[in-house]
Amino acid sequence: MHSERKIEFKAYDTDGDWRIVEASADARLSLMDILRSNGFDIKGVCGGLALCGTCIVKVISGTGELAPPNDDEAAMLEMLPDAGTGSRLACQLPLSLSMNEMVFGLQNYE
Ligand code: FES
Repeated sequence: MHSERKIEFKAYDTDGDWRIVEASADARLSLMDILRSNGFDIKGVCGGLALCGTCIVKVISGTGELAPPNDDEAAMLEMLPDAGTGSRLACQLPLSLSMNEMVFGLQNYE
């Protein structure tokens, strides 16, 4: 019998408020999708193609748990002045069990 694999993580919005986000690791959604559906102020102008950088987030805790950026994500991050250690594109991060108990913060993209 299949049991859903739940994850729970903490995310700070651009105004500094934070919320606990619950999701299923099996949902086949990106971190951007789930942040959006939970009311976070994340733009995602290019629709998840790693072309705009408006979904940038900072991994505040647990950065070693994620796979490293793919080539498209790495190239976009290099062009973003706000990107630094721990910065990722939320559209390029599929929900996974490794996100459990991580802490993310939305970055200002303007
Ligand atoms: S939505 Fe455009 S880079 Fe992520």
